[in-house]
Amino acid sequence: MYSPLFYIGTLLLVAIFNWIYKWKNPRCNGVLPPGSMGWPLVGETLQFFAPNTSSDIPPFVKERMQRYGSIFKTSLVGRPVIVSTDADLNYYIFQQEGKLFQSWYPETFTEIFGRQNVGSQHGLMYKYLKNMVLNLFGPESLKKMLPEVEKASMKSLERWSHQNVIDMKEATAQMIFDLTAKKLISYDAKTSTGNLRENFVAFINGLISFPLNIPGTAYHKCLQGRKKAMNMLKTMLQERRKSPRKIQSDFFDYVLEELQREDTVLTEPIALDLMFVLLFASFETTSLAITLAVKFLLDHPLVLKELMEEHNTIIQRRESSESGLTWNEYKSMKFTFQVINETVRLANIVPGIFRKTLQETKFKDDFIPYNAGYTIPAGWAVMVCPPAVHLNSTKYKDPLDFNPWRWEGINTHGASRNFMAFGGGMRFCVGTDFTKLQMAVFLHCLVTKYKWVSFKGGNILRTPGLQFPNGFHVQITKKDP
Ligand code: HEM
Ligand SMILES: *[C@@H]1O[C@H](CO)[C@@H](O)[C@H](O)[C@H]1NC(C)=O
Ligand SMILES: *[C@@H]1O[C@H](CO)[C@@H](O)[C@H](O)[C@H]1NC(C)=O
Ligand SMILES: *[C@@H]1O[C@H](CO)[C@@H](O)[C@H](O)[C@H]1NC(C)=O
Repeated sequence: MYSPLFYIGTLLLVAIFNWIYKWKNPRCNGVLPPGSMGWPLVGETLQFFAPNTSSDIPPFVKERMQRYGSIFKTSLVGRPVIVSTDADLNYYIFQQEGKLFQSWYPETFTEIFGRQNVGSQHGLMYKYLKNMVLNLFGPESLKKMLPEVEKASMKSLERWSHQNVIDMKEATAQMIFDLTAKKLISYDAKTSTGNLRENFVAFINGLISFPLNIPGTAYHKCLQGRKKAMNMLKTMLQERRKSPRKIQSDFFDYVLEELQREDTVLTEPIALDLMFVLLFASFETTSLAITLAVKFLLDHPLVLKELMEEHNTIIQRRESSESGLTWNEYKSMKFTFQVINETVRLANIVPGIFRKTLQETKFKDDFIPYNAGYTIPAGWAVMVCPPAVHLNSTKYKDPLDFNPWRWEGINTHGASRNFMAFGGGMRFCVGTDFTKLQMAVFLHCLVTKYKWVSFKGGNILRTPGLQFPNGFHVQITKKDP
């Protein structure tokens, strides 16, 4: 005779084993890609976020590629995920946006960027927001912005050259934030109460973190920052509404005008979420790219030499030495764009691009013959892994070398399949041209007028997003004329 407790205990054990079995072997009407779902609930989240100093393909992905091949399953932040390191499948996923796949980000993302952020929008609203942003950062606007970007770069460099040592990461983040905030909401840190940017700091850490909202966690800090920043933005919008300006001059004006139209789909919360995303997306990513470029140039004197020649030639060709950069000059910076491409390829600022399957998806033979037969169930997440493509030695010879010359003549069609630093397909980054403009103009000002030496820091950590844990401290001095 056993006690009832024994039966209950046995039942409980069976239930737990059953649950674990189901966790490890998710249901699927076909063959799932190989891989491990890790522990119940946490899955392989901790391994995925383990910090590493390597600039190669994240060890988490690399180990699994070796074990399982270019497509494997795992579980991250409580979700079953298929990871794709295959350039052709990535391309296919991007092309299928809105059909088989849809933009999707982990819960942490939507909490932080708002449920109404542009990445979570689909269909009409998405098209509307995208047009709005393209309006702001499209070629016509960028042409007008060029002198402003040059002025901001000059002013910052001048100021830094009077300081003993500056942290490049911190300083460029401030420069770009100020520039973007001015463009979007006419924000001026000097005359405003409260520091808007402060609330964006330490953001990247909490962005793809475990969604545990208790004091002390990265996720909690991130949410607090968002709350404060959103309150500031809201107050600013309200103030502007009370005292509208005659001439529409920034994004706020544009939004207010849109909100007044009767047939508009725009709402205030959506507009505020968009503002927040744009502010964040612009300064954190671009400042990382600029900092890394400055570091690469220091480590590669031959690249710096050719870059300097390109920019000195631009200045020598001018009739007046007083005139600023023109659009044609900007467009002529051939080697600079190679340096920028090479920098963002190696930076891998975005280590994963997320989608989810809208319906059960079978890979057809014509796309990836060697993986024919895999099925992804509906509702699963898919993570496209750009670093795996950017660091593939078949696509880029000696992939870990910083070699801008490799981009020479690579302009051929299809090259874009191997370059996805800015995503691809319909969701391609709307800030790409803005980023390139800021990087090119900043580098122009830097290499023509200044020299710099590294002081301390500059070491890289990936979690798996790019970080400079100790900053990158440099001393910038004006060159003799
Ligand atoms: C080095 C700099 C940058 C990198 C590496 C980068 C990378 C990316 C990537 C990979 C995506 C695609 C996300 C997806 O497919 O789900 C994306 C989308 C986006 N980026 Fe960027 N970005 C950069 C700069 C910027 C800037 C300066 C802005 C602001 C103007 C910006 C605004 C956006 C927006 C709004 C989207 C969403 C577009 C959509 O959903 O259609 N980005 N970015
Ligand atoms: C990084 O990953 C490699 C390969 O998995 C591992 O040997 C190393 O210990 C990791 N840690 C750091 C801090 O780089
Ligand atoms: C690199 O790309 C080639 C060509 O697409 C592919 O066959 C190969 O499997 C890739 N290598 C790795 C390690 O993923
Ligand atoms: C940079 O990369 C993009 C995407 O592959 C390509 O279209 C462009 O031509 C490249 N730029 C240069 C200067 O090589």
